[in-house]
Amino acid sequence: MYKIVSKRRLNETMTWLVIEAPLVARKAKPGQFIILRTDEHGERIPLTMAGHDSEKGTIDLIYAAVGRTTMLMDQLEEGDYLLDVVVPLGKPTEMEGLKKVCVVGGGTGNALAYPLACGMHDHGIHVDMIAGFKSKAQVILEDEFKAGVDRVFITTDDGSYGEKGFTTDKLKELIEDGNEYDEIVAVGPPMMMKFTCKIAEDYGIHSIASLTAYMIDGTGMCGGCRCIVGGENKFVCVDGPEFDGALVDWDELIKRSAYYSEQEAEDRAHVCRLTGGVRYND
Ligand SMILES: Cc1cc2nc3c(=O)[nH]c(=O)nc-3n(C[C@H](O)[C@H](O)[C@H](O)COP(=O)(O)OP(=O)(O)OC[C@H]3O[C@@H](n4cnc5c(N)ncnc54)[C@H](O)[C@@H]3O)c2cc1C
Ligand code: FES
Repeated sequence: MYKIVSKRRLNETMTWLVIEAPLVARKAKPGQFIILRTDEHGERIPLTMAGHDSEKGTIDLIYAAVGRTTMLMDQLEEGDYLLDVVVPLGKPTEMEGLKKVCVVGGGTGNALAYPLACGMHDHGIHVDMIAGFKSKAQVILEDEFKAGVDRVFITTDDGSYGEKGFTTDKLKELIEDGNEYDEIVAVGPPMMMKFTCKIAEDYGIHSIASLTAYMIDGTGMCGGCRCIVGGENKFVCVDGPEFDGALVDWDELIKRSAYYSEQEAEDRAHVCRLTGGVRYND
């Protein structure tokens, strides 16, 4: 059992939890994730480790309440427990040889981008962070990014906060302004990552995308998180979650990510009936 030691609401859908997990905290590295269950009947869901404190034996999780399990997590409070957490999974972020990087986060993807961007900065890399959101109400982690990387650019689609426009507009502007990036890292909805990696390719810059495919066992056995990279089958849980953005088959990934939408909508409605009708937009 893994105790929730603190819970902080970041916006209407996103929450920051600190969990007691000493063994996981000791081994955690930027870019890795865990798989958790809230209870013995629950689904196993992957969440990125947003941070860890090996002395206190805690890990940080930042999640969006979008469906059954994350909405159930939302009902838990400080002092409550998660049933189980599977040890750090996935390959840590590769940082060797990089001097200047632009990390581009979209919506919930900013939660995943946060440890990655700060981890790169701690490694001595200059990090520009473009954090994009639909509107002001969704903006999260601005102060944390400012404390953790070199420059932060907030964009909103509707212009209600930061600069109006998409993250891809800002990325192009920074490249056109003469910023010479060794790498562009995309973390967010598949469509946003696809276009971010396309821009990188157009300017001859290496890109990395952090994929969030559906996962079941997290061991490379079930095939749930299969994606195609460079024409080969890869598994996000063991081969990723980060892949060369130019090699990802984005259209196949986008098609697969819609496979379970009907089932998920039913599950969400079920939780809403159980918990008194809390509904969130995806
Ligand atoms: C390696 C990895 C790391 C992740 N890290 C985080 C994180 O740090 N914070 C966070 O909020 N989410 C993260 N996700 C996504 C998270 O796992 C899903 O949001 C979660 O599984 C949803 O479960 P659910 O039962 O609440 O919702 P479901 O009912 O399963 O899904 C509800 C909606 O959520 C979206 N969704 C579901 N699964 C995924 C997925 N795997 N990727 C993207 N969108 C999904 C879909 O739009 C779906 O319609 C990560 C996913 C992976 C694979
Ligand atoms: S989650 Fe089963 S193969 Fe990756």
